[in-house]
Parts: sequence; C-alpha cells; structure tokens
Amino acid sequence: MNDLKNKTAIVTGGGKGLGKAVAIALANEGVNIGITGRNEENLKETVSTLEAIGIKAAYSVFSIDNEQDVIKGIGELAEQLGGVDILINNAGIGNFGSIEDMPSDVWEQVIKTNLFGAYYAAKAVHPYLKAKGQGDVVNVASSAGLKAGGGMSAYAASKAALISLSQSMMAEWRKQNIRVITLTPSTIASEMSINGGLTDGNPDKVLQPEDFAEWVRDILKMNRRALIANGSIFSTNP
Ligand SMILES: NC(=O)c1ccc[n+]([C@@H]2O[C@H](COP(=O)([O-])OP(=O)(O)OC[C@H]3O[C@@H](n4cnc5c(N)ncnc54)[C@H](OP(=O)(O)O)[C@@H]3O)[C@@H](O)[C@H]2O)c1
Repeated sequence: MNDLKNKTAIVTGGGKGLGKAVAIALANEGVNIGITGRNEENLKETVSTLEAIGIKAAYSVFSIDNEQDVIKGIGELAEQLGGVDILINNAGIGNFGSIEDMPSDVWEQVIKTNLFGAYYAAKAVHPYLKAKGQGDVVNVASSAGLKAGGGMSAYAASKAALISLSQSMMAEWRKQNIRVITLTPSTIASEMSINGGLTDGNPDKVLQPEDFAEWVRDILKMNRRALIANGSIFSTNP
C-alpha cells in the first residue's frame, strides 16, 4: 500500500464536479491539495471544505489553455504547498453538436482545453515530480476517446488525442519512477454531463463523482511498483 499522507496533489478543475470529489477523497487520506480553475468562488468554497478536513489547501485561478498562466499558477501552488507529488489532470469542457453546426472556434476551444491544457499542466508539474524522484500523473480522458459517436467530434477527438499523449508520457516518465495513469470513464453525473444531456434524464442512475474519486484514490494507493496504465469505469446500469 502506498501511504498518501502528507503528499501534495494538484487537481486541475478542482472547484466542482469530478475534480472536487477527487480533491476531497485525497484530502481524507491526508493529502495536501492545490486546486485550479477559472471560477474563483467555486475554488474558495472548495478550499474551505478541504481545510475543514484538516489538510493544507490552496487555489490558483487561471485558464488551462494558456501555457504561461499554467506554469505560473502551478509554480505558485508548488511553492505554497512545498512541491508536488501528484497531478490530477482533470480540467476539461464538453461541447457537443454536429460537425456542420458546431462553430470552428468552439471546436478548437475543446481541443485547446482538453488536449493542450492537459499537456501544459503535465509539463509544468513534471520538474517538481522529477525533483522528488517519484510522482503520479492521472490524465482524465473519457470513454468517448476510445470510441467516438455522432455529435461529439470535438470532445471525442480531444480525448482520443489525450489518451495518445498520455501513453507517450507513461513510456517516457515511468523510467523516472513517475506513474502516468490514463483513465477513460463513461458518463458520471456532473454539470458537464447533465447539461450535455448525457445522463439519460436521470442523473441518479449513473456513476456519481464520489465513485470516480474512490477509484482514483485506490489506484494511487497501490504499491508504487504497480502502475495501472489504463482504466475504464462504467455505470452498472441494471
Ligand atoms: N462527467 C462525465 O460524464 C465525464 C466522463 C468522462 C470524462 N470526464 C472528464 O472529467 C473531467 C471533469 O469533468 P466534470 O464532469 O467534472 O465537468 P465539470 O463539472 O463541467 O467540471 C469541469 C472542470 O474543468 C474546469 N475547466 C474547464 N475549462 C477550464 C479552463 N479553460 N481552464 C481551467 N479550468 C477549466 C472547470 O473549472 P472552472 O469552471 O472553474 O474553470 C471545472 O472545474 C473532464 O476532463 C471531463 O472531460 C467527465
């Protein structure tokens, strides 16, 4: 078992949804948490929740699609929290629509956020993990990246590319004792999936953010010699 107590994790998009749930699950293991996002209100509220658990928590406001801002924000969090051990590369957007109807700038923004954003964050965190001689990066892709369908071209392409990026990252960084974990969850009840009409009208029937968070926590708690390279999670949906 890998004891997570007193480690430091950065969770991008940690102010709501899956990121917030993972931040809380890790805080319950004694992990200090830095969260990022654009909505300062959500970040502040989540930091209060995390501090009430009894760990150190901090936030940084920046958009994940701007590399210089990502480097600055991650640097500030690392300084406040004393380095970084774990990155939960979670920030993402889901815009859905047909190829004809979706404006090109929206299509590009999905790629910029979900692919470039994850690349920038991983690259910015890497020197801190390397300095410690170990670390973990969890890249939150999607089942849509494994198999696309109609009306999701931007999202599915962004996540397919993220899976590919993550595989290269795993091959390069495992030699540095950094575990890179590619996750491809199916629908989980969150603002993104509910607003995108993905929960089939009943969000209670599908996976909840807490289910995802427990899964991530358990993967990270595995002995450091064990690396879950890829994983999917689906709703049982009886
Ligand atoms: N829910 C699902 O069914 C599902 C399934 C598979 C994969 N995923 C993936 O899981 C991740 C989290 O999704 P979620 O369901 O929790 O969605 P969500 O509730 O909409 O949360 C998205 C998070 O990403 C952050 N974010 C989005 N754009 C950003 C930007 N430009 N800069 C910085 N932060 C940004 C948001 O923070 P701010 O609003 O503060 O910017 C928010 O914290 C995403 O990568 C998503 O693709 C979700």
